[in-house]
Amino acid sequence: MQYLSKAVIAPLAAVLALATIPAIAQNAKPADAALANQLDQSQASGHDPQLLDKFAAVKVEDGKYVDKEGAPTYHITNDGKKFDWYAYSGYRRYHAECHVCHGPDAMGSTYAPALKDSLKRISYEQFIGILAGGQQNSSAGGQSVMPSFGDNKNVMCYADDLYVYLKARASGAMPRVRPGDKEDKPEAAKKAEKECLGG
Ligand code: HEC
Repeated sequence: MQYLSKAVIAPLAAVLALATIPAIAQNAKPADAALANQLDQSQASGHDPQLLDKFAAVKVEDGKYVDKEGAPTYHITNDGKKFDWYAYSGYRRYHAECHVCHGPDAMGSTYAPALKDSLKRISYEQFIGILAGGQQNSSAGGQSVMPSFGDNKNVMCYADDLYVYLKARASGAMPRVRPGDKEDKPEAAKKAEKECLGG
């Protein structure tokens, strides 16, 4: 009896081991070299290798890059000079809607936290939730209020753009610069924008 079960289990284990090895290898290295970021290495002191890895794109659909957790992410090329559409758009939206409280380049102010640090721990879902519903008083002061933007289309229609930009700031992929070059605005972005603003 004991002999029999061993004879059945051993080959099964071998098959399972074979099946898991390629899956692990694929996770560790995104297959498509075109998805890799090309960053400004003169800014390397500001790079966070762990977050750069976590936020790396594993696929792209219609100019929107997605990381291994399925969250929107950035794509930066040309030695850190060229940004995907959403990161570029997020930069602009941030400096229209958020920087008055959160400071230029997401560096923070005496009033509101540095979002370049917050995005190191806040998930995509949490980010969207805070943006739509606001947040109060997580700090001791008692006066600290993040307004709700749920009814503001100029913010909510660009929530992914803001998130992607702030992720690029959090990992250090995007230094404190005004984006010089960008990928073309994807058809999907045009369509989503029209539907969101109009509806
Ligand atoms: C009127 C000022 C103000 C504006 C404008 C504002 N925020 Fe905030 N935000 C705050 C304050 C204050 C907090 C801290 C709230 C708290 O203590 O929990 C905050 C918190 C947040 C947090 C959570 C940070 C953390 O570490 O928990 C996120 C994310 C955030 N804001 C995103 C944004 C984005 C994106 C925009 C632009 C669309 C924006 N905020 C615009 C004041 C503002």
